[in-house]
Parts: sequence; structure tokens; C-alpha cells
Amino acid sequence: MSKLRPDTLRESRHPHSAELYQRACRVIPGGVNSPVRAFRAVGGTPLFIARGAGAQVFDADGRAYLDFVGSWGPLIAGHAHPAVLAAVTEALSRGMTYGAPCAAEVELAEQVVACYPAAEQVRFVSSGTEAVMSAIRVARAFTARDLIVKFAGCYHGHADHLLVAAGSGLATFGRPSSAGVPEAFTACTRVLPLDDEAALEELFRREGARIAALIIEPLPANHGLLPQRREFLTRLRELTSEHGALLIFDEVISGFRLARGGAAQLFRIAPDLATFGKVIGGGMPVGAFGGARRIMARLGAPGARRLALLDVVARGGRAAHRSRPGGARGCALCRAVSRPARARHLPAAVRLRDLLPVTRARQCRSHAF
Ligand SMILES: Cc1ncc(COP(=O)(O)O)c(C=O)c1O
Repeated sequence: MSKLRPDTLRESRHPHSAELYQRACRVIPGGVNSPVRAFRAVGGTPLFIARGAGAQVFDADGRAYLDFVGSWGPLIAGHAHPAVLAAVTEALSRGMTYGAPCAAEVELAEQVVACYPAAEQVRFVSSGTEAVMSAIRVARAFTARDLIVKFAGCYHGHADHLLVAAGSGLATFGRPSSAGVPEAFTACTRVLPLDDEAALEELFRREGARIAALIIEPLPANHGLLPQRREFLTRLRELTSEHGALLIFDEVISGFRLARGGAAQLFRIAPDLATFGKVIGGGMPVGAFGGARRIMARLGAPGARRLALLDVVARGGRAAHRSRPGGARGCALCRAVSRPARARHLPAAVRLRDLLPVTRARQCRSHAF
């Protein structure tokens, strides 16, 4: 009797999944929309899921499974929780998208900020990848530096400059890890081994003044679970602060699950920026990044951009302002700039050099705060 191949066996047990897979392969490369859904590592064809309820999923052939995947993490309330369904249905009945602000985003932002103290402000995006890309762009804008440091074994989504494999030996220059990523895109990414303080310190000694941000999964979970020593994470905090670089915690997996305030709460380490994934949308395609107000202000409203043109320098200006007798209050021009800064909670001091005729500039400098 000839032996059945595992594929054939699975197909005979899951004819509807097998048929869907065949159809999918005609119109979707590899038949799946993410490598993690392919069954290459375990053999056979992927199961196609028809529905989920609580802790179970049911495949296209009606078989029930206990679901340990949970859509790769975000479904902390399980599948089709009645309260979630009711909230989503109610929201859908009011229309899906407006291209304009709405109350729900303010409420969600308030909840994220309440749970995660390091995020004084958040910006919503559509995925964890976008959250990371945006946080890095903000870090680069804020520090006016280019280099990004990541760790081997940590995954931060599929942005080109993060699809990087570690270089050999002491060279921490990243090499593209995916076809289609030009070397020029990874030239500003450095890759370090996890839990290696010597390599970390050597890199900061060499290139610290050029590093915009260091990003880490505070509980690396994409290469198996690689818990880090608190001392190592603390050293990251210290070194980034010493060198004027930003520390980004990628909490796409750990956020709102490891603790309500993510790994930052558990380790009692406040990053400068943090990124979140679909967990904040109950599994729907949502992401967010957040951080200190002075950093997030880089993304601010047009008013904040105009202030930046006037060279607003963040240094807790409000207190300094008050402490100087006869400060900016006497100068109409400084007042015009400092009022909107205060209204936007920007701890701003204003330098008005370069943009003003010398006499006015002198006058304003004498009112500097
Ligand atoms: C730690 C981490 N960051 C970022 C991402 C990217 O998120 P998304 O798949 O929503 O783009 C992932 C995805 O698995 C992740 O695990």
C-alpha cells in the first residue's frame, strides 16, 4: 500500500481549506497574505478559518480548534466578544470614516495616555509598521540625526530601513535582509546583539553623536521569547540619555498585555517614544506611537510649525520666563510668539535671531526667556 504524503492527508481531511488554498495561489503570491500564515515550516496547506468564537476558531471544513494564536496577540478578549461586537456595530452604524477628527479618537487617545505615562501624546496610524516608521521619523526630526540602532532578533515591521541583518564581527552596519531593499536604505541602521553591553557602549563611543534613536522590543518576542535583563534595558536608557539619542520601546507585542502600561511599567523604565499595534483596536488595523509632548510636538498643528520657524527651543521656558524680571511680557513680538506656544503646552523659549532685523533681534534677546 502506498504511503499518503502529509499534504494529501491534510487535503483529504480539509477539502474546503485545500480548495480555497488552490484558488488563493492563483491570485495571491504563495496563497497567503503574510509569511506567518504559510505552513511551510510545518508542512501541508494552511487552514482557512471560517469563524472564531471566544477561545476557539473553526476552519472552512467545520473543525473546531482551541486558538493559541489570538490573531498573533491582539485578541485579548477572544473572538467575537459580545461587548466588542456591540461597540463595533454601533460605531459602524454611524459610518466608517469621515476624513475628519471625531470624538472616538480623542477618547482612545485619552485611554492610551492614561495607561502609558511616557506617552503624553499619541498619534494613530494603521499598523505597527507605520507606528515604528513614524516614531523613527519623529526621532530623526527631533534630534536632527540620522542613525538608528536596532537589535538582532527584534522585529519592528516591514519598513525598508528596518529589514536589516546584522553585519559581521564588530561592524554593526546593517545589510538588507530582504530582496528589494537597497543598501542605501539600511546604511543608517546599526544592528547590535541583544544583552551585549560592551558592543552597545562601543557603538555609542564611536557614533553616539550621530544616533537619533535606539529601538528595541523591551520583551523581544519575535524570535522566540528573549527576556532581557532589567540592567541591560536600564543601560539603554542611560546611554541614550547621555548621548542625546531617543529610546524607543516597540510595544506592539508587549503593550497592554505584559502589563496595562506595557513593558515600560513592568521594568519601570520610561522610553522617549513607544509604539503600539492592533491591540489598541481590538485586533483591527490600528497602530499608534506616543511620547513626551516636547517630542511629539514635532508633529504638531500648523501653529506649532510656524513657531518652529521662529526657532522655538524647548527648555522648560515657562518657569524661566517667569523668573526673569521684565521678561518677554514687555516685548509685543515675543508675546505674540510665546502665547500660542503656551496654548499648545509647548515648554518653549523663543530665540528670534536671524529672522529679524538686528535691532529687533537685540531687543528680543534682551527679553530672552
Ligand atoms: C514588535 C513588532 N513591531 C512591529 C510590528 C509590525 O506590526 P504590523 O504587523 O501591525 O505592521 C510587529 C508585527 O508583528 C511586531 O511584532
